[in-house]
Amino acid sequence: MSGARGQFSSKTGFVMAAAGSAVGLGNIWGFPTQTASNGGAAFVLVYFVLAFLLAYPALMAELIIGRHAKSNVVSALSSVGNSTFTRRLGAGVGYYGIIIASLILSFYTIVAGWMIAHLGQPFTVLLDMPEAGTWLTTNSTTRDLIFGGGFACITMLIIGSGIENGIEKWSTRLMPVLIGLLLLLICYVLTQPGAMEGLKIYLLPDMSRVSDPKLIVDAMGQAFFSLSLGVGTMLVYGSYLSKEESLPRLGAIVTLVDCGIAFTAGLLIIPAVYVAQHNGLTIFDEAGELIAGPSLIFQVLPSLFDSMGAAGTYVAIAFFALMSIAAVTSSISMLEVPVSMVVEKTGIERKKSTYLIGFVIFLISATIIVNFDALFGFVIDLTTKYSEPLLGVMLCIFAGWVLHRDKLLAEVKSGHPDIEHSLFWKIWPTYVRFVCPVLILVTFTQSLAG
Ligand code: PFF
Repeated sequence: MSGARGQFSSKTGFVMAAAGSAVGLGNIWGFPTQTASNGGAAFVLVYFVLAFLLAYPALMAELIIGRHAKSNVVSALSSVGNSTFTRRLGAGVGYYGIIIASLILSFYTIVAGWMIAHLGQPFTVLLDMPEAGTWLTTNSTTRDLIFGGGFACITMLIIGSGIENGIEKWSTRLMPVLIGLLLLLICYVLTQPGAMEGLKIYLLPDMSRVSDPKLIVDAMGQAFFSLSLGVGTMLVYGSYLSKEESLPRLGAIVTLVDCGIAFTAGLLIIPAVYVAQHNGLTIFDEAGELIAGPSLIFQVLPSLFDSMGAAGTYVAIAFFALMSIAAVTSSISMLEVPVSMVVEKTGIERKKSTYLIGFVIFLISATIIVNFDALFGFVIDLTTKYSEPLLGVMLCIFAGWVLHRDKLLAEVKSGHPDIEHSLFWKIWPTYVRFVCPVLILVTFTQSLAG
């Protein structure tokens, strides 16, 4: 069998890894652009409220089940079950989570490959190799297969090295670099002409939009994706956490870091877009909406970097390094979901399981690359729009209804002995039973109707 399970060596190691999973392309690309297309600061406000009222309780459900069961998502959910039905249902939900985590990883790998290819482009400028630069920034199946494959190998190398030597070590190294690069870029962009206009759009709320159903649905989807919820990532990371740590406190820190970095990324992206406008670039599409999709990251911003002269080359390197790092620390958490299950259920050695599963997921990425128009958007909708909220509801139900209340309390008490008298324990158990599932389902139905 697989021997002793790995564990994070410290509180900081866990926070870096869980925040690394949460902070990804969703924060740096998704959050700012959703904010811009949903009434600026009104979206930020609703997002923060939902992150703490809905996503944080769901994150706690995952962390508590994970640390209680100390196993992969399938074994954890089935062991929580108290009847044959709930045990089978738990295993089913676990397998569904694994499939969705793997599918998210398959499209994330493609996007991350684009980031690495664009990271290479400024180096071709420094080396005076313009043809190579054009190849790196022009869409092609070959480019996507090579860079997607390269990114998949990086993810596999880290996961193959285990919890402490892989996930924790690399998250702890990369997260401070990510924050440093983000702050450096903000300082530079905010000094450029046009930035203040973007800052105003980002920070001044259009309060009339706060109750807009589309804004609320978008904010919930974004909060779930951003905190990596529903697919078992946080459950598995929770399972590697020592019993001495306080789960409610660590969960709150991870939520705060995730929200903080999303907000900070907005201070970079939105002003940068307005600097681009000041430099003569088009930043609105035909419908009058701010450009938000791939053309924002791969056309508008690179053109902005070009217009900055020599400094632009280095700004481009910093920006795409930031994006690539954000992608790696998230992708490793996705790969850990199936790998931990295979290692624990079959006893196949970690490295072998990692390469096997990593290869299968890359084959899915390759299929999407080759059938891009038919599959890319479909897989994103299937996973993030339809599956993540439903899985989130199931995890809340397992924490709130299936796991016995005494066991729940014992788990939260471990590392936080006085929790019984805290506001958290007064609110959370009821919250996770009723409020979370109902609110998630209502928002989900709204999103289907919309
Ligand atoms: N939280 C990541 C982001 O914001 O980009 C995406 C993500 C990671 C989603 C891990 C799901 C997951 F399991």
